[in-house]
Amino acid sequence: MVAAKHPDYIIESAGIAPPLLAWYDKHHRELPWRVSPSAAATGRRPDPYRVWLSEVMLQQTTVEAVKPYFRTFLEKWPDAGSLAAASEDDVLRAWAGLGYYSRARNLKKCADLLASDHGSRFPDTEDGLRRLPGIGNYTAAAIAAIAFGRPAAVVDGNVERVVTRLRAIATPLPEAKSAIKDFVRQHVPADRPGDFAQAMMDLGATICTPRRPSCMLCPLNDACTALTAGDPEFYPVKAPKAEKPQRVGAAFVAVRDGAILLRKRPASGLLGGMSEVPTTGWTARTDGDTTTGSAPFPAQWRKVGSITHIFTHFALELLVYMAETGPSPAPAGHWWAQLADLHNEALPTVMKKAIEAAIPGATKTLSSRQKGHS
Ligand code: ADE
Repeated sequence: MVAAKHPDYIIESAGIAPPLLAWYDKHHRELPWRVSPSAAATGRRPDPYRVWLSEVMLQQTTVEAVKPYFRTFLEKWPDAGSLAAASEDDVLRAWAGLGYYSRARNLKKCADLLASDHGSRFPDTEDGLRRLPGIGNYTAAAIAAIAFGRPAAVVDGNVERVVTRLRAIATPLPEAKSAIKDFVRQHVPADRPGDFAQAMMDLGATICTPRRPSCMLCPLNDACTALTAGDPEFYPVKAPKAEKPQRVGAAFVAVRDGAILLRKRPASGLLGGMSEVPTTGWTARTDGDTTTGSAPFPAQWRKVGSITHIFTHFALELLVYMAETGPSPAPAGHWWAQLADLHNEALPTVMKKAIEAAIPGATKTLSSRQKGHS
């Protein structure tokens, strides 16, 4: 019998890139923004615009949820120049349901800046990319590696899980981030940095999953210290999260002959520029009013339910009131939106929930796809 080699020995000798890339060549996911490894081997590089768009969408959203949005965006705006020529309202409308709407506003700002200062082309270095609106360390590294073949260390949540298990890093996140990045940096192969980044992400998404990882199928199982110790699920260790404050408020669904009353949120801040039914001031630090005192007009408002929504920094409960009204003009800054046309409105998920509480089925055909919360 041949004795198994120690994980440290495997990692320090051949490294993780050769077995990982061999696995990726066979088992990579086919994704609409991706150039397959066989095509990449012939020198084909993915379009930086597609890589950028997909990475921004994937920041808080699952791959499956992103696919239809990615296709819609590419159909409407196939390159940075056409996105720059679009209106922010149109971009927000196309983004509605994906959550974290500052991503959409930054997408537009970034396209504008590329068009005005860069001839609609992306800079090809991590540093250059990081200077663009909405592009942080992760996204700059991902675009640099995948679109430009730069040896950047790309670390997202999947990669954190893979590396903390491989090296049994028990330091809690986020403190462990720099050790994880150092490890990745040491292993990025000069010849296939983009495939390496995507292989790490695919491994985390399909094999090295949070629960019940498929270690038997993992190309790195003999190099994994957590597996050798018998407890991969223990990693990554996370610092306890502070409990989110709870806020309350009220939303008013006014109905007039198959239409509901909407208004536009202020351009900046939470859900900036998106559409909403009139509400009390629930984004204030203190709790909002939950009475009909802030309704858009006096009417027989009746309570029809309540909804909850978890934002990044707080949890919200909105009491939902509804009233029907005869022909009446919309108050200043508001408009009547036909229920059949709600797909044309930039409605965030929290507002779809409020409308749904008042008029069940009204938003069922609209998409609402975020992975986390916003
Ligand atoms: N998640 C974020 N970016 C990704 C990519 N390029 N491939 C797979 N999963 C991802």
